[in-house]
Amino acid sequence: MLEVRGLQVVINSDLQVVRKVDLSVPKGTIHGLIGESGCGKTMTGMAILGLLPKGAGLQAGTFTFEGTDLLSGAATLRGRRIALVSQDPAAALNPVLRVGRQMDDVLRTHSNVAKPARRAQAAALLAATGLPDPDRVLNAYPHQLSGGMQQRVVIAQALATGADFLIADEPTTALDVTVGAQVLALLRRLVAQRGLTILMITHDMDVVAEVCDRASVLYAGITVEEGPTEALLRAPRHPYTKALLAALPDARPKGQRLAALEGAIPPPRQIIQGCAFAPRCPMAMPVCATPPPRRTEGERFWLCHLEARDA
Ligand SMILES: Nc1ncnc2c1ncn2[C@@H]1O[C@H](COP(=O)(O)OP(=O)(O)OP(=O)(O)O)[C@@H](O)[C@H]1O
Ligand code: SF4
Ligand SMILES: [Mg+2]
Repeated sequence: MLEVRGLQVVINSDLQVVRKVDLSVPKGTIHGLIGESGCGKTMTGMAILGLLPKGAGLQAGTFTFEGTDLLSGAATLRGRRIALVSQDPAAALNPVLRVGRQMDDVLRTHSNVAKPARRAQAAALLAATGLPDPDRVLNAYPHQLSGGMQQRVVIAQALATGADFLIADEPTTALDVTVGAQVLALLRRLVAQRGLTILMITHDMDVVAEVCDRASVLYAGITVEEGPTEALLRAPRHPYTKALLAALPDARPKGQRLAALEGAIPPPRQIIQGCAFAPRCPMAMPVCATPPPRRTEGERFWLCHLEARDA
């Protein structure tokens, strides 16, 4: 559904916030985008949505959504096929309007259904996100709802646009663990029941392990490894993916956020000649000063000078 090859985002001509992102997201799946803070996850999502900040330049070898070129067509797809679920539901909702009015504004823009039918449609969408008593929610102001309820309203609004591809940017970060798990279960259910496709941005390995079919690991704006979740977690190939997993306190992706690794990612202003991870890589060799080759194995790939059998 989404095909991205060699995506680059440069801000003010010298900040390389996304250097070389590759992503391949089949319809009806959840794809995780994982990496340390500042590695370009949100910027990648914004590029897909066509919502990059002023002064941002975008380039890509391939950048298509069901065959439509996103370099030219993102504006028409945003809010029609592709919607954003951000980490702060309170900020995504208008605090001075009742939920019913906000749902209706979305439905009115995206369909030509009469008002009474729209009310029923809004209630049905809220019910689909697992909200009990949708009529009460429609009459409520956002601050009268819990964080988990607000996030369900945001997801219902995304569905109300008719979008079938959601970019969920850390959708559970602002929620407590139990409520976050419920929202993840909801997203998983919506994928199964409605054929949604989700790009799940996260720095929580547990989220990847729990709900993602496939995942990409980003480092300094570069996809350094991508593959089916199970294989990626069981047998990571790239030294960075290995380091991320090894840094988890009990070396298992259960309930842990990414632990800090020694050193820092290269800043967006830095020009990278060879492997971006070389200064922090325990396996670095002289050849790593040159661009690493793309290695493939079945449905996975990674960028590294190490041969597969050494990796
Ligand atoms: N509006 C902006 N102007 C200039 N640089 C920006 C802007 N927004 C983000 N950046 C920079 O772009 C890089 C990538 O940021 P991005 O927000 O995509 O990271 P992220 O992976 O989503 O991190 P986090 O996990 O903290 O959300 C960072 O170095 C960040 O400082
Ligand atoms: S290319 Fe070299 S420095 Fe980079 S991850 Fe592989 S071994 Fe480490
Ligand atoms: Mg982010």
